[in-house]
Amino acid sequence: MKNFLSRRRFIRHAAAGTAALTWLSARRPPMAFAAEAAKPALLGGLPVHQGGWSDWPKWLESWEPAVIKVLRSGKWYRGDGGHVAEFETGYAKLIGAKRCLATASGTTALLVSLHVMDVDAGDEVIVSPYTFIATYNSILINKALPVFADTDPATLTMDPASIESRITERTRAILPVHIYGLPCDMDPINAIARKHKLAVIEDACQAWLAEYKGRKCGTLGDLASFSFQNSKHIPAGEGGAVTGDSDDLLDRCHAFHNVGRATGGFKGAKPYFTRGSNYRMQQFQAVMLMQQFDKLVQETARRCENADYLTANLKQIPGIQPARLPENSRAVWHLYPLRYDAEHFNGLARDKFLQALNAEGIPSSGGYHEQYLDGLLDEAINSRGFKRLFSAERLKAYRESFQELKGNRQVCATTVAMPQNLLLADRQDMDHIIEAVRKIQAHSAVLAKVSA
Ligand SMILES: Cc1ncc(COP(=O)(O)O)c(C=O)c1O
Repeated sequence: MKNFLSRRRFIRHAAAGTAALTWLSARRPPMAFAAEAAKPALLGGLPVHQGGWSDWPKWLESWEPAVIKVLRSGKWYRGDGGHVAEFETGYAKLIGAKRCLATASGTTALLVSLHVMDVDAGDEVIVSPYTFIATYNSILINKALPVFADTDPATLTMDPASIESRITERTRAILPVHIYGLPCDMDPINAIARKHKLAVIEDACQAWLAEYKGRKCGTLGDLASFSFQNSKHIPAGEGGAVTGDSDDLLDRCHAFHNVGRATGGFKGAKPYFTRGSNYRMQQFQAVMLMQQFDKLVQETARRCENADYLTANLKQIPGIQPARLPENSRAVWHLYPLRYDAEHFNGLARDKFLQALNAEGIPSSGGYHEQYLDGLLDEAINSRGFKRLFSAERLKAYRESFQELKGNRQVCATTVAMPQNLLLADRQDMDHIIEAVRKIQAHSAVLAKVSA
């Protein structure tokens, strides 16, 4: 089932939408308050949460001099100034990686990582299906096949138990996605990769400062990719990074992102030895990002505290299942997801529940849908290139394998997700979220009838 708003549009409009609800409710007569507060907002009652939520992205005036300095210097391109390199050192330190390469976006960071890990035309990459479409596309652009592991409905991340049966002689890499900032269970994933000599590329595009067993996401595989696109916790409009601990791999990444110019220990036949493209970050992006390191640390702590509070309370409500995290790990909540079981809500359909929650002033969406059924993969596997690279039998079996993704289907059909800016609010606002869910449950029989 498709969501009524795309994820990015949803995040952008969340604050504005709640402001409109507040404006409407401010015009109701005060006498009606008690009765209307008890009634679901979808049926004309007062919303539980009024006053909107914090805007995103946010910036401070104190950032302006550094940005203007770059503007006035005329040194906007990476090769002309030191800001991008300075950002790389700072970001590597922040997440505890040896090296970082700044890129133009998260998608280009994935393209660099896949190329450097030698994912080539006709290869296969085992990937989480529950992700933003850029993850699929980065594999397809390399003319490789994104082979989907299943999603564990309890964690919303790649189910390690579903990986091995997908490995073929063409498999080169595993690409787990720390979706919504929820760390994947990396120990079993890395063990399978080692056993079958596969590369591990983390999609950490939503997982800045997330942790798994004491280490940050972005340091758990061979290479990792981050995004700094506008909706992200550390945004610069666009931007990305590759992180890792191997000088050799990061030198190769640098060369590939810089139209193949040999760099560092990766000499080759200078100056243009390897294939490459232009995926460079601008000085402006680097300056914007460096201003946000402390903000990211502080806001992450706030999101975690509020998410823990929500989880402790929401899991008490029958039919609401917050995401389970791997042991000794920390999620950073790009969205706060929970699984919704309509049976405990008198059969109230998930999409109607979402409408009721939004009406209560709690912006929420259904998260990702089954994107592999949308047509992108059909277009790819029916293209001349893919037909040349893979046998007809392989492509047929590949297409049929989407039906096996039962865990992922369940996740797509039952998830309810709230945007990260809600988690920057006060404890009282978290209570509104909990109260809104309880209120909808109390009225679910009547809401379910209205929806019928
Ligand atoms: C999981 C995931 N992968 C990849 C990307 C691609 O990043 P970008 O939009 O910076 O290219 C994103 C960005 O939304 C993402 O969320």
